[in-house]
Order: sequence, then C-alpha cells, then structure tokens
Amino acid sequence: RPLHVLVLGGDGIGPEVTAQALRVLRHMQAKYALPMQIEEQPYGNATWRATGSLMPAATHAAVDRTDAVLFGAVDSLDRAGMPAEERARGSLLSLRRRLGLFANLRPVRTERALDEVSPFKPRTLAGVDLVFVRELSGGVYYGEPRGIERDADGRRRGINTHIYDEDQIIRAARFAFALARGRRGVLTSVDKANVMEAGALWRQVVTALHHDEFRDVKLDHMLADTCGLMLNRDPKRFDVILTDNLFGDVLSDAAAGMAGSLGMLPSGSLSVPKPDGRRRALYEPVHGSAPDIAGKGVANPLAAILSVALLLRWSAGVEAAAREVEAAVTAALDAGARSADIALAGEPALGTEAMGDAVLARL
Ligand code: NAI
Ligand code: MG
Repeated sequence: RPLHVLVLGGDGIGPEVTAQALRVLRHMQAKYALPMQIEEQPYGNATWRATGSLMPAATHAAVDRTDAVLFGAVDSLDRAGMPAEERARGSLLSLRRRLGLFANLRPVRTERALDEVSPFKPRTLAGVDLVFVRELSGGVYYGEPRGIERDADGRRRGINTHIYDEDQIIRAARFAFALARGRRGVLTSVDKANVMEAGALWRQVVTALHHDEFRDVKLDHMLADTCGLMLNRDPKRFDVILTDNLFGDVLSDAAAGMAGSLGMLPSGSLSVPKPDGRRRALYEPVHGSAPDIAGKGVANPLAAILSVALLLRWSAGVEAAAREVEAAVTAALDAGARSADIALAGEPALGTEAMGDAVLARL
C-alpha cells in the first residue's frame, strides 16, 4: 500500500510555507520513485468561513485513512463567532489525539552560516545537532483531578495532577533509545526525580529499559533545571534528549532560540505502530500562522521543508532522501539564501517561493 500523505496548509502563512514543502516532497517522490499518495484537503478558519466547518467531512475522512499529515499552522486567535463545539471538533489537539500521537520529535540543528543572527555566541553554537523526544500523551496536561475550586476557607485554588504510568514512560523511552542508537548513541533522560514521584518512576523505568535492551547506548540522567543550564552553556553535548510532556514543551522552546528563527525548526509526532506495522504521524513547522506577515509571501519555508525531511525519514523510511533535503537546506544557506527573518539588517531578503527555489535548485 502506498504511503498516504494528507496535506493540510491551514491558516496564515501555513499554506504559503506548505506549498514550498509540497514542491520538495513531490520532487523527492519522483526522484526516489516513492510509492506515495498525496492528498490536499481544506482545513482552518478560512474553510470555516466558507463552509461553516473548520474541518469538513472530506477532511475528517482523509484523516482517518492517512499515514502522515503534513501540516502548516492553525490560527487559534482568529475565531470570533466560532461555536465552541466546532472549535473542539476541528482543533489541532483533537487531530493529534485522533492520530494517537505519543512522541513529539524536535530536532535543533544550528547552521554555521547563521551564527551571526543567533542570539548566542557562535563558538558555543556552531554545530549543535540534537533532538528532543517529548512524551506527548501524559503528565500534568492530562492528569485528573484538575480544576479551580474553593478550599474550606473559601479561597480559590488551582489543581493539576502530574501522572505517568510505566507503559507511557517505556514507549517514549524505547523510541528515544532506538533513535539515539541510529545517531551518536547518547541519550539524556531529563526529569525531576529529586522532587517529583512521577520523575522518580521515570528514572527507574528508563534505567531498567537501558539495562534490559539498550546497553550499547550511553545513558545520562539529568535534572530538568540542569538541562536548562546545559542547553545554554554546552548544547553540543546533547544527542537525544528524552523528557516528559511539560519539561519537553519548555526546554524545546528554549532550545529553539539557538536556531536563529522559529522559521528554521521542524517537528514530527508519531503514534505507536499500527497493526500494519506503520506509525501514524504528523509533521509541522514549530511556528504558528504568523498573522503579522501572512499574505505577503515573505515567510521562511525552511521549517516546513525540513518537516518534509522528517516525513521522508520517519514515515517513508528513506533516510538518504531525508539527508538530501537537509543537505540542500544547508547548502542554500551557505550560498547566502536568506528570508527576512534570518537576514541581517540591510541584507537583501528572498521571499517564500524564492527560498523554495533555492532549496530545489540543490536537489
Ligand atoms: P507565530 O509562530 O505564528 O509567530 C511568532 C513570530 O515569529 C511572528 O513575529 C512571526 O512573524 C514569526 N514567524 C513565525 N514563523 C515564521 C516563518 N516561517 N518565517 C518568518 N517569520 C516567522 O506565533 P504567534 O504569533 O504566537 O501565534 C500566531 C498564531 O499562530 C496564533 O493564533 C497561535 O495560536 C497560532 N499557533 C499555531 C501553532 C500551530 O499551528 N501548531 C503553533 C504556534 C502558534
Ligand atoms: Mg511550546
């Protein structure tokens, strides 16, 4: 069965950057003769205005049969007048839940050519190549009980519960160990085992799995606060960073600053393998719909294009094609291709399509 890829551009710059990503995907599909069926469907606020539905029935049906979604962005702020039910039914969270995604992967690579636009010192930064594996299905975002209630004295209090069961930890950890094995062989597992029970369990489970199945991978445990410090001071020490839903959210955004712009950062989220052996997945740039620059043709499409590389690697299983796309992005940057977000003041900037051209020219 060919790999089914569902393309959802969404809102704002989502369709603009996705169009360039799709050019790259189609090019690689042809070049490697990949058995792949690509389908585009409408999704987002404009779709809601035109049809009364954020995610029309045909899009819902396509979600049910797809292997991999290539996603642009949603604008969750531009929804005046949209019924709460429609918001919930068509939300990105509900899409992620339907796909059964449990691990979110966020590579952070720093390009030598971009040292000057990074907020960090080049010497610290050049050559960072790390991946976050963020557990996506558990932890404090989902724990019950939760809510705002009154205590016995009538004071309000907000309650969240941080829960991890060992199955959730094992599946994320097994995935991260296997990923590290195919890279530089170093896994850093991040928790707060010193103050959190779920963190203490996290450490026990990861240690046991390492002993039983992954002794060839070097495992370090690190407290989340120390990890924040080390991402600042010595980011090159990291290969794969495994962490929970909350720490993964915060630390991966903090690390994103190293890449120079949100427009450089891809991501992929994966489900456990289905009965046919395939994982379902969603690939998207880390950035949102960027209403401040939408419609101007100036958005940086590299995050979306690098998300295609992840799709080729994780869903299509063609590592060579993934590397070729990543190398083409690096080569385009080395040759001076700059969209406005990564150009220095006074430097001429390329538009979205011209950036796509610069990458395609190197494929
Ligand atoms: P944003 O990521 O859309 O924009 C933040 C800043 O980065 C803006 O100044 C924007 O112009 C710039 N930027 C982002 N992507 C860029 C690119 N590819 N090229 C050049 N510059 C880029 O985040 P913001 O402004 O907080 O949110 C805007 C909307 O996006 C909101 O409705 C938010 O809910 C939504 N959003 C959606 C996400 C998703 O679909 N997964 C993720 C984050 C935000
Ligand atoms: Mg975040």
